[in-house]
Amino acid sequence: MNKQIILLPGDGVGKEIMEAAKVVLNTVASEFGHRFTFHQHAIGGDAIDQYGTPLPEDTIKACHNADAVLLGAVGGSKWDSLPAHLRPEKGLLGIRKSLGLFANLRPIKGFAPLLHASPLKEEVVKGNDIMIIRELTGGLYFGKPSERRDNGNAVVDTLSYQRSEMERIIDKAFQTARLRSNHLTSVDKANVLESSRLWREIVNEKQQDYPDVTVEHLLVDAAAMKLITQPTQFDVIVTENLFGDILSDEASVLTGSLGMLPSASIRTDGVGLYEPVHGSAPDIAGKGIANPLGMILSAALMLKHSFQMEVEAAEIEEAVQQCLEQGYHTADLKIAGGKQVSTKEITEIVVENLTTKGVSN
Ligand code: NAD
Ligand code: IPM
Ligand code: MN
Repeated sequence: MNKQIILLPGDGVGKEIMEAAKVVLNTVASEFGHRFTFHQHAIGGDAIDQYGTPLPEDTIKACHNADAVLLGAVGGSKWDSLPAHLRPEKGLLGIRKSLGLFANLRPIKGFAPLLHASPLKEEVVKGNDIMIIRELTGGLYFGKPSERRDNGNAVVDTLSYQRSEMERIIDKAFQTARLRSNHLTSVDKANVLESSRLWREIVNEKQQDYPDVTVEHLLVDAAAMKLITQPTQFDVIVTENLFGDILSDEASVLTGSLGMLPSASIRTDGVGLYEPVHGSAPDIAGKGIANPLGMILSAALMLKHSFQMEVEAAEIEEAVQQCLEQGYHTADLKIAGGKQVSTKEITEIVVENLTTKGVSN
């Protein structure tokens, strides 16, 4: 099978981890007899430097015509003082919107060898397995353009949602809960926000269509607390754009590092975009020490969701698991008696684990 994959490495560690994903995918291709053709395009600060815009037309067009898109990360202090429409982050928001990627799946699953890498107690973290489903193309991120008034002394950001935008993500969450343990937690701020009150109404309406799924409503402040005190109480969490952004970084603490988390940004049909949850990590960029596992696991999500390559995706996850069992980790993690290695070295170990399994068909 020949698949056309767009690579958008972006900025900072984005470039370093994208290289890792490429190497791993090339290994999968040769082990399983697939062909992955990579086409690299610019986004974020990298695109600003080359083309004066964070999302060139050429990048948008290439993504629309691809089988899938892999993205590293965007952003950095170099571009922080640019006007809002020219910031690197606008490139990322723009491509999500342009591709209609309303559902962002952020699986939070701790690997056993990293149980002690979390600052949380073992008995709290053990067995955590959560799917955060974040609405990705609405809410505060995509309201009317933000404004400064009164000589810059007043600001307006707008949170708006259409009913249909809420319905489709909530449906996705119920469907996902059915494939897991039939439990859905909906997170909102219905005690304050009108948008959350409509959200809650829709969740309750939709529950009639999914009577086999149990629903719990949590206010976001309490949810933030419960996520790190009783994480095993959660299965699928569904929430709007900004809450999902914040809760997923928080949830990464369960796994030992933000660098471990992958994500899939998808729609019902059509091209998907796969990206780690973390950003460009300017504090460690260029040092060759970034954790590429979130990016590599995002590539596995791409194989699973966009190419229906379940076995190949599972092989990658297993190779990552094995690498951690062997004690290898990057600087953001700790494994007792383990060995700290670079981005490139840990990628080579994952590749070695993939090839020594002797899988071929
Ligand atoms: P960040 O996620 O880049 O970094 C937060 C912390 O986590 C840092 O200490 C960093 O070193 C660490 N970290 C992140 N990824 C890591 C990895 N793979 N391996 C090891 N350590 C890792 O968040 P930030 O510092 O708040 O933001 C930096 C820039 O990234 C900003 O410009 C922001 O807008 C952007 N950002 C982009 C994305 C994205 O492209 N998807 C996501 C989040 C932030
Ligand atoms: C993420 C990031 C982005 C977001 C930023 C960089 C726009 O934090 O993907 O989680 O908030 O969606
Ligand atoms: Mn984020």
